[in-house]
Amino acid sequence: MIPDDVVEEVRARADIVGVIGEFVQLKKAGREFRGLSPFKKEKTPSFYVNPAKAFFHDFSSGESGDVFSFLMKHQGMSFVDAVKHVGARSGVDVREVRRGGDDPWRPYHEASAHASSFFQERLWEWEGGKAARAYLEGRGIDREAGERFGLGYAPDEWGAFREAAAVHGMDEGMLLELGLLKRSEKGGDPYDAFRNRIVFPIESVAGRVLAFGGRLLGEAGKGAPKYLNSPESPIFHKGEVLYGLSWARNHIRRDASVMVVEGFMDVVSLAAAGIRNVVAPLGTSLTESHARLLKRYTTQVLLVFDSDPAGLRATFKAGDTVLGQGLHPAVVTLPDGEDPDSVARSGGADAVRGFAAQAVDVLDRKIAILEERGWFDSIEKTRRALDRLLPTLRAARDARLRDIYVTRVAELTGVGRDTLLDELRQRPAGPARPPPATARRRPAPRVHGLGEERTLLLLLVKDRDWIEKAGERIGPSDLEDRANRVIFEALIADPELDALPDDAAAEAVRRFEKLMADPEALASPQQVFADAVAKIEGNGHDRRLEAIEEEIRRAGPEEKVRLVREKERLTKERRALSIDWRRPTRKLLEFGRTRQGGEDRK
Ligand code: UTP
Ligand code: MN
Repeated sequence: MIPDDVVEEVRARADIVGVIGEFVQLKKAGREFRGLSPFKKEKTPSFYVNPAKAFFHDFSSGESGDVFSFLMKHQGMSFVDAVKHVGARSGVDVREVRRGGDDPWRPYHEASAHASSFFQERLWEWEGGKAARAYLEGRGIDREAGERFGLGYAPDEWGAFREAAAVHGMDEGMLLELGLLKRSEKGGDPYDAFRNRIVFPIESVAGRVLAFGGRLLGEAGKGAPKYLNSPESPIFHKGEVLYGLSWARNHIRRDASVMVVEGFMDVVSLAAAGIRNVVAPLGTSLTESHARLLKRYTTQVLLVFDSDPAGLRATFKAGDTVLGQGLHPAVVTLPDGEDPDSVARSGGADAVRGFAAQAVDVLDRKIAILEERGWFDSIEKTRRALDRLLPTLRAARDARLRDIYVTRVAELTGVGRDTLLDELRQRPAGPARPPPATARRRPAPRVHGLGEERTLLLLLVKDRDWIEKAGERIGPSDLEDRANRVIFEALIADPELDALPDDAAAEAVRRFEKLMADPEALASPQQVFADAVAKIEGNGHDRRLEAIEEEIRRAGPEEKVRLVREKERLTKERRALSIDWRRPTRKLLEFGRTRQGGEDRK
């Protein structure tokens, strides 16, 4: 049996146009979609699907109904199968609901939903929510937009939510696990994790509340980061959730494109301005799961990140990930110092659309930047520029797009197409070829993100005192690059090392020599160390999580149980590293400080 509320949720969240569109070719006709009757042969389309009202009507056969009855009538499915079919496509987990059994995570979902309504009530109905309401208004977010995203306010108190939850008899252990409550290290009573913050509920595609983001009302300060996100929990895996998707997905399909922005405020602010095909990752870079999620709705992905160096790195990293799923990423460039929120507020939807219309294919954007920086000025530089372009070519999974890319780069660099194709074939890294079934990790090319490994090694080589500290925090397997791993291992074994043994891999030997000879002086080594180690630690964790997810996908039922436990353990560990996503280390330090003083009132 499938409980009624699950059926209702599936029905409410179903994308009826998408589901029926798998069987009937539909064309937009005003607010509806039209196609040839799937029930009766006809020449003029008289079959309509109305997404707003969630029904279909076939004028030629007289059939009509909701998404489930379509599947039952057209595919001969049972009701249960129809619900499962639609559930699978709308992200509602119908599988977990077995006959006689129940959704094991239901209490977590209920607690999250309850918390969300508590925060909403505080925002809109409560006298003390005045400042929060004024804040939103000041940011151009009216009540309609605010309610659409379920925005709320967490009062500036230590126990407001905890007390409200206690009235409902909610289990504190669970609330701690969900990150709604926290406990100081010295023990004592748990306290509210979100205080004096605008709260953004993070929903599954199906619209279930999984977690929260909170923006501080007013200025960020010591121990109070501007943004705070719920940690990973049994129901929240941030690498698999896109903020805003539950609401944006139908718009994405209709607009045939999605805008990916940095975070909550951009999504809400764009929606308030009337742009609705917008989503944001949650404190991570865009993952493969995210890209797969988007692929259900469109192939055109507009990346709208900052255009500072960090933003560009994020852009190209996301670009490669998106290409790897056969999607087409393009880069939207906003004027210096602007973000989607500021553009929407000063120029409205038209201004944003104007910039979106000038989006440039991700490869072209890369080329333009290299050109600006003079990378094609000499033969030698061009050769190296090529190394920077190849990963993007490799990532492109769509054969036609890849072909266009190869031609473009051949023309640009004067390197023959065949030579390029040869180069692409050389490393089996291209996701264009599926990895062999035995491969454990997907060889997703990550050109960016290796910077921190080099930085750390440089620091270790220059100032050997850091080696021991580094060894306490991370292991070689946290490093992604093989040569870097070799060097790191060798340094841990012998901190005074000044050359790698001759039998070490040539690439490692060469790189070590380069590090030794590098004249770069690192200012504020403390910060450099903290930043690099935190990033590498996080990357290592993320890779292990990715790998285990892949294994879970392949595993048999028994193996799965073990793997899922393992994944939960890793996820828990990852929590401590996931407080902030923009400046992980800074916030991590603040977090540490917070725990010792500030926030800890006991
Ligand atoms: P901003 O730092 O501009 O956030 O982040 P903001 O709330 O607009 O702050 P002010 O008022 O300009 O100082 C840009 C985008 O990144 C998101 C924000 O919600 C916004 O969409 N963001 C930022 C996060 O989602 N998490 C963070 O930790 C930081
Ligand atoms: Mn801002």
